[in-house]
Amino acid sequence: MNVTSTAPVAEAETQVTTFPIPEGVFAETVTSVKHYTDRLFKFRITRPQSFRFRSGEFVMIGLPNAAKPVFRAYSVASPSWDEELEFFSIKVPNGPLTEHLQKIKVGDTILMKKKPTGTLVLDALVPGKRLYMFSTGTGVAPFASLIRDPETYEKFDEVILTQTCREVAELAYAQELVEDIRNDPLVGEFAAEKLALFTSATREPYVCNERITTLLDNGKLFELLDVPVMNPLEDRGMICGSMDMIKDTKALLERYGLDEGSNAKPGTFVVERAFVG
Ligand code: A2P
Repeated sequence: MNVTSTAPVAEAETQVTTFPIPEGVFAETVTSVKHYTDRLFKFRITRPQSFRFRSGEFVMIGLPNAAKPVFRAYSVASPSWDEELEFFSIKVPNGPLTEHLQKIKVGDTILMKKKPTGTLVLDALVPGKRLYMFSTGTGVAPFASLIRDPETYEKFDEVILTQTCREVAELAYAQELVEDIRNDPLVGEFAAEKLALFTSATREPYVCNERITTLLDNGKLFELLDVPVMNPLEDRGMICGSMDMIKDTKALLERYGLDEGSNAKPGTFVVERAFVG
């Protein structure tokens, strides 16, 4: 199959080049785009009928703008039952993919490799009472999937999503999502009872200016949430952010007695890098 794409904007808006779709790749259509800040946007695409994934997994995304397209890992932000696929992306200046991806419009074509994978899945955690999801920036994407999945609420009594960003406007995607979830016919009732969102902004005035790691370290997080101090009997964790954030959060969870799990060997917490950074 061939698709049509506009050539790089620097050349001419009118110049059109076609490239073949590589083997083993779905070509899907953009159904909506929303920009949150000059650094963040979300987009939704059609879902191939044969595509199955577990909430929290990621896929490789690219654009049909070259003979050998650049692919980057993106967590699917929509739940596994959704008929479309949603992604939450950063815009990296001169980033080989996001420089172009940030310009997509409804009707454009997105390439997606066929195999989803990842460790931020419920199967990689042993049963527990309370599930913490720790994120910075676009690291919230896999959790946007999981907090819309009824299985998350079947498995846990309390679900605590945390997101730390530099600026207040970067928190809008998760805030909007949690608002919408509370009115969702499928998970709204469970979420109203079990889901808490904790946000902090580190570089602008906001109700909380601390990094999540500071609040875990001094224990203030547990006071603010009115929950017991983190412990391996009740608590489970998922971490998705920058390499530094992961390293620091992981060390703190281990200090509270949690141990890292994987698909092959479930544990009390799991980790995934936030990809396009
Ligand atoms: P800060 O503003 O104090 O650096 P980035 O865009 O650099 O990935 O940062 C996103 C958010 O993550 C920022 O609020 C940033 O805080 C915070 N952050 C950066 N490094 C860490 C870390 N090692 N542990 C926890 N939070 C971090």
